[in-house]
Amino acid sequence: MAGKKFKWIGIDFGTTNSAAISFLDEGNSIGRYEHGDDQGTPFPSIVGINKTTGEVITGRDAKNRRMELSENYEFFTSIKTIIDKDEYYDVAGKKWTPVALATEILKGLKEEILRKNVDAESVVMAVPVGFSPLKKRKLREAAQNAGISIETFISEPTAALVSNYAKMRMFRNVAVFDWGGGTLDVAILHIEDGRVEEVTTSGMNLAGDNIDRKIAEQMHIKYCLSKNVSKSFDQVDAKSKDRLIVKSEAAKIDLSEGEEVARIMVPNYDGAGVFMESIEYEFFDQLVEPEVNEAIHCINVAIEKAHLNKANIDAVLCVGGSSRLKPFREKVTEIFGEEKVIYPEKVMWNIAEGAAIVSMSNTAGGYGMNQDIGLILSNGTFYPLLKKGQRIPCKEKRINFASVTDEESIRFLVTDAEDPTKRTFEEPIVIERKGQGFMSEQFEVSCFVDPDLLLRFRVRSTLFMKQYLYMWTYNKLNIYYQIEGGAIGTE
Ligand SMILES: Nc1ncnc2c1ncn2[C@@H]1O[C@H](COP(=O)(O)OP(=O)(O)OP(=O)(O)O)[C@@H](O)[C@H]1O
Ligand SMILES: [Mg+2]
Repeated sequence: MAGKKFKWIGIDFGTTNSAAISFLDEGNSIGRYEHGDDQGTPFPSIVGINKTTGEVITGRDAKNRRMELSENYEFFTSIKTIIDKDEYYDVAGKKWTPVALATEILKGLKEEILRKNVDAESVVMAVPVGFSPLKKRKLREAAQNAGISIETFISEPTAALVSNYAKMRMFRNVAVFDWGGGTLDVAILHIEDGRVEEVTTSGMNLAGDNIDRKIAEQMHIKYCLSKNVSKSFDQVDAKSKDRLIVKSEAAKIDLSEGEEVARIMVPNYDGAGVFMESIEYEFFDQLVEPEVNEAIHCINVAIEKAHLNKANIDAVLCVGGSSRLKPFREKVTEIFGEEKVIYPEKVMWNIAEGAAIVSMSNTAGGYGMNQDIGLILSNGTFYPLLKKGQRIPCKEKRINFASVTDEESIRFLVTDAEDPTKRTFEEPIVIERKGQGFMSEQFEVSCFVDPDLLLRFRVRSTLFMKQYLYMWTYNKLNIYYQIEGGAIGTE
C-alpha cells in the first residue's frame, strides 16, 4: 500500500460555474491541480434531467448540449441562489429539491477531481459573505450526499485575498470585487498582523448573465430592423433565444479580450434562416456602461459603509469572470489608478484556490473572535463567555449560577461589552415559570461556536438537565481570519 499522501482541496460552488483546486503532497513538492470541465475552465453549475428516464447530465456537457436536448431534458441553473428554498420540481416521476440538484453538481465536480486521482472526501468550501446558516446547512447536506465532507467554510472575498496574499501583504484596506455570472459581491477587507476582517459588503444581482441577455436583445433588434420584421425577443422560439444568448456571451468575451468587432451567427434563427450580425466595441462599450456604472457604485457604497474613502483603499482585487469586461477594467483603473487595481492571472480559479490554501494552513491559521461575548450580571458587570481572540469553532463554555429569588422569571443580557455605548448587539433573555418560580435553583449557561460559525447559546436548569429553558443562535459574529503569524487565542 502506498504511504499516506496529504491533500488539500478547496471548492468554489458558484451560481454559474463551480471550481475546485487541489494541492497534493507529492513527496518532494506540492502539486497544484485545477478541476473543472475538460476544457480547462470551471465546471458549469448546470443540471439537466431527462424527462422520461431521469438520467442526469451536469457541467460542460449539460451547458453545451442544452439547446440540442431542450425537448427531452429539463435544465436547472443558479441553484446556489435557491438552495435554501423548501420546494421541489417534478421530473421523471421524482421530486427534485434544490439540495438534490446541488448534489448532482457536486457529484459531477467530485468526478472531475477523482479524474486526477484525488479523493475529495474533505474540503474547504467558499461561500459569499452573509450566506445564511440555513444555506450553509443545505450546502453541507448536498456535499454530504455527493460524498464530500465540508471541513469548514471560508468567505469568498477572504478566499480571493488568501490566494493572492503573497503579493498583498503590505496592504491594510483591500476592496475585493467579485463579479460573476449571477451576482456582484464587493467586500472591504481590513488586514492587520496577518488577520483579515470583513468590514463591509455590498453587491447586486446584476452580472454577466444580464449582460449576455442585453446584448442578445440588442442584436435581435438589429436583426429585426435589417429583415424588416417586428417581433419581440420574448416571442422568439426558446432554442433560438438560447443560441443567441450563448453567442452573445462569446461576443462579449471576444470584445473584452481586445477584438474590435465580434460576429454573431445563429443558424435557422426562429425558423427564418441564418442570423448574422456584428457588434462593434464602441457600441458594446456604451451598451454596458450602465452595468459598469452600477458596479462602480457598489464599490463606492462598500467603501463608504466602511467609513473610508478612495484614498484609504490600498488595492482593488478583481476576481470573477465579469471583472474582465474591458469597459469595467478601464473605468476601475481610471478611478483607482493602475497600481491599485490587481487582476490575478486566473480570475475564475482564485476563490477555489484560496479555499484550498485555507485547507492547507488550517492548523496554523483559522478563524478567531473579534469581540467578546458574555453576560451582563445582576450587578451590571460583564462576564465574558468567549473572549476576543478565541479560536473558533470552539467547544462549549459553561458557567453556573443560582437564582436567589423566588420570582417567576429570571432575566439577563447577552452582549459584547460592559459599556452600553460600545455594544454591537444585545439579546435580553427572559425565562419564565409561572406559579412556581425559580427559588434556589441552579442554572447552567453554555455557548459555543459551531463549524458554520454560528454562536449557539443555551440555558438550562441543573434540576432538569435534559431540557433547555432557552436556546438562541447568533450569526453576525464579528470574526477574523488569521492568514499568517500572530498569536491566536486557544481554549
Ligand atoms: N474575458 C471575459 N470578459 C468578460 N466576461 C467574462 C470573461 N470571461 C468570463 N466572463 C463572464 O464571467 C461570468 C462567469 O464568471 P464566474 O465564473 O466568476 O461566475 P460565478 O462565480 O459562477 O458566478 P457568481 O459569482 O455570480 O456565483 C460569465 O457571465 C462569463 O460570461
Ligand atoms: Mg463567483
